Amino acid sequence: MIRKAGFNDILFIWHVRNELSVRENSFNSECILYTDHIKFMSKNLCNYWIIVFRDKSAGFIRIDKNGEISIAISEAFRRKGIGMKAIKEIVLMVNKPLTAKIKFDNLASMKIFRRNRFKIIVQRDGYEDKYLCLKREIK
Ligand SMILES: CC(C)(COP(=O)(O)OP(=O)(O)OC[C@H]1O[C@@H](n2cnc3c(N)ncnc32)[C@H](O)[C@@H]1OP(=O)(O)O)[C@@H](O)C(=O)NCCC(=O)NCCS
Repeated sequence: MIRKAGFNDILFIWHVRNELSVRENSFNSECILYTDHIKFMSKNLCNYWIIVFRDKSAGFIRIDKNGEISIAISEAFRRKGIGMKAIKEIVLMVNKPLTAKIKFDNLASMKIFRRNRFKIIVQRDGYEDKYLCLKREIK
């Protein structure tokens, strides 16, 4: 299940953003300071959803103003199909074209987006950012 994020979720989102595997799969892999997170969330909280599994917060989804989507599932909740279902739910809920930027070696992320009908539109192969851009149109 997915619900809109609120003020009480800010700390949880910060913890998940700072999990090592989440930083590694992000384009900025630096650890995020809480003060920076608060500043960021004061403007961006409205772009976040919380993924709930058995009444517990399991992760979050962010969709920015340009329709770029990202997802993170906290390590304890991985490989249970939660990410796959969450993407399915959010695309139905927002009902607009979405894009995702995914690093080439992020197999789990590639699977959950491609199985939800995101198609590869751009391949980037810069020195630092080796990622694919995927897009899902609405029908
Ligand atoms: C990507 C992510 C959201 C996937 O969430 P998840 O709930 O663990 O994914 P699911 O359980 O729905 O698994 C989806 C598929 O990926 C596979 N998978 C999961 N983790 C994997 C891993 N580490 N390596 C390879 N495959 C993996 C699963 O086996 C499943 O495939 P299958 O159905 O063929 O068995 C999660 O790994 C995560 O938060 N990663 C760090 C942040 C990140 O990379 N975000 C994406 C950037 S947009």
